[in-house]
Amino acid sequence: MIRLEHVSKSYVKEGLPALNDVSLEINAGDFAFIVGDSGSGKSTLIKLLLKELEPTAGTITINGKKLNKIRRRQIPKFRRDIGVVFQDFRLLKDRNIYQNVAFAQQVIGESSRNIRKNVPKILSQVGLAAKYRAYPRQLSGGEQQRVAIARALINRPRILLADEPTGNLDVKNAWEIMELLDEINQNGTTVVVVTHNLEIVRAMNKRVIQMQKGVVRDDGADWDDGSPLYRSGEASSYGSDYFGEQPGFSGEEGAADDFFGGRPFYTQSGRQNGDGGGDED
Ligand SMILES: Nc1ncnc2c1ncn2[C@@H]1O[C@H](COP(=O)(O)OP(=O)(O)OP(=O)(O)O)[C@@H](O)[C@H]1O
Ligand SMILES: [Mg+2]
Repeated sequence: MIRLEHVSKSYVKEGLPALNDVSLEINAGDFAFIVGDSGSGKSTLIKLLLKELEPTAGTITINGKKLNKIRRRQIPKFRRDIGVVFQDFRLLKDRNIYQNVAFAQQVIGESSRNIRKNVPKILSQVGLAAKYRAYPRQLSGGEQQRVAIARALINRPRILLADEPTGNLDVKNAWEIMELLDEINQNGTTVVVVTHNLEIVRAMNKRVIQMQKGVVRDDGADWDDGSPLYRSGEASSYGSDYFGEQPGFSGEEGAADDFFGGRPFYTQSGRQNGDGGGDED
């Protein structure tokens, strides 16, 4: 689903490239952490996957599409299948939570009727039904990040990329967000998370791709950074209440029952696993 073949990216002519001959594959439905020192190329990798940057060499394939074959006017459609979340949330400050999430549907031309169904549903599924009228400045960091995740998922992307989603959060909120991302993954979305939060990485026991100076230094489930194995007892105590019943949403409770056939919003059922496009190589 995500494949890099000998991908390099140089920002400048001199010196080492930011990414240096990186090959890796992330399958549909996987959860992968990307870790590594500052400057090791993690954000560069994310930007390449979003086609915000072009590689200097190599090939990137996402959902069966070679990124260098995607024309400029096709980029918005391509990006619709990739949700993205950043450290600094990037919410629209002059719009409330509902409007922030609705906006992502408006720009793809979703009908207002569907938007009115979909937004409350997804907000309650990230635990924010009660706050839909609040503005970003009135929310905690953890809440703002949940809005950003709702916005990233509302158009049902097959892939969710997160670049340091917990970088601005305290330990408790960081755990809550990671557990939320894990739930999203368990319901079928491919999730790639760049993080410096090694404590959580160790505890969650996922694939860990470790970058160092532009190359993949290590890649595996048995990641060990050399420190004593740490397993947080907190790991299981967060997240479960996100997906329980939420308080009513301004009388709209139930209005969205048929959203994605009553399955969780991020369920990918009905889509084939693996690559979608017709121009598979
Ligand atoms: N726009 C740019 N122009 C020139 N050099 C850049 C640019 N963006 C990144 N770089 C360089 O590329 C390298 C990789 O940067 P990148 O942002 O991918 O690192 P990172 O792993 O995300 O680091 P951090 O953990 O600090 O976010 C760094 O040496 C950085 O200075
Ligand atoms: Mg970065």
